[in-house]
Amino acid sequence: VPFRVGEPALDLFPVDIWARLYARHARRGARDFLGYGHANGYPPLRRAVAEYVSAARGVRADPGQVILVRGAQQAVDLIARTVFRPGDRVWYEDPGYLAAAAILRLAGTSLVPVPVDAQGLRVDVGENSAADAKGVHVAPSHQFPMGSALSLERRLALLAWAGRARAWVIEDDYDSEFRYPGHPLPALQGLDAAGRVIYVGTFSKTVFPALRLGYLIAPPDLVDRLTHAAAQVDHLAPTLEQAVLTDFIEEGHFTRHVRRMRKAYAERQQALIAAVDREMAGLLRIEPADAGMHVIGWLPPSSDDAAVSSRALELGVEVPALSRYRLRAPLAPGLLLGFAALRPTAMTTALRKLRKAIEGGPAQ
Ligand SMILES: Cc1ncc(COP(=O)(O)O)c(C=O)c1O
Repeated sequence: VPFRVGEPALDLFPVDIWARLYARHARRGARDFLGYGHANGYPPLRRAVAEYVSAARGVRADPGQVILVRGAQQAVDLIARTVFRPGDRVWYEDPGYLAAAAILRLAGTSLVPVPVDAQGLRVDVGENSAADAKGVHVAPSHQFPMGSALSLERRLALLAWAGRARAWVIEDDYDSEFRYPGHPLPALQGLDAAGRVIYVGTFSKTVFPALRLGYLIAPPDLVDRLTHAAAQVDHLAPTLEQAVLTDFIEEGHFTRHVRRMRKAYAERQQALIAAVDREMAGLLRIEPADAGMHVIGWLPPSSDDAAVSSRALELGVEVPALSRYRLRAPLAPGLLLGFAALRPTAMTTALRKLRKAIEGGPAQ
């Protein structure tokens, strides 16, 4: 499906290397991995993750704070059910990541929509509407879906509020490896002296989503509670996959793959923007994204983005409407276009279909 948001370039994943590492463990080590394992994850992978987030993301972590889970989504779920009580108010970026909204509601919390702008979450609005909230879900490196990065001033304001309110900050750092100009932005967690931030990362974008491996870095006060909760819910992450991933990281394949993907995604994004400028002028306007795996394509002002999106889906093109992600924020009409999984050879056909969907007039 062209443009699928959040899907990495599976066509460029080194499946042969993965298969070799997998076979090595399945043949020789499998018996070591048949037991229940550790509730908070395979110790060598916890060490590798602590090293990686410290070096690459500016996160302060020792392996004892790392809990391996089945993806960022499960991390948010485990955190929400462990640290919040039904009825707690929690700030939520509007527009934001829908799965986090669903998870927070399932945990019984009441969402406080907080708008975002070019500098990310409007911390001042959050404080005015719910200074006594118990937490916040935020993607400071790359807001989903708007793409902004939380400014330093707002990072400090957010941490100051969390310290005063004794609120938990869930930092969702889902795709920050892919930042195009300059270096990746360091994580919010690295600035957090008071231990209010629970850092969440995933291998869904850097390795592949079906792996279902992600992690959280618990602040010292929460390590025991979250580890205990992880053990009660399930033994979350499968051990054999964790062992394979450990080798993938330790033998250098991970770093090499991420570096190659950063370059490939920058090229795919440029190719997409050039093709849209060339073939869809006046119908769709794209500003380059500094980070991540999708861009927003802005439609002409009076368009109904939900109708365009459903017409596109009927033609086999998956471009979610921006309005889908809002709770109450006013938004111009737009579409989300994932470019990471977009093979250059499939682009022209996909854009032709998208053009048809946009020009198609009102939905029947
Ligand atoms: C903001 C955000 N957080 C987390 C995730 C996903 O995480 P995972 O596959 O690790 O559950 C996504 C995936 O698209 C996302 O957009």
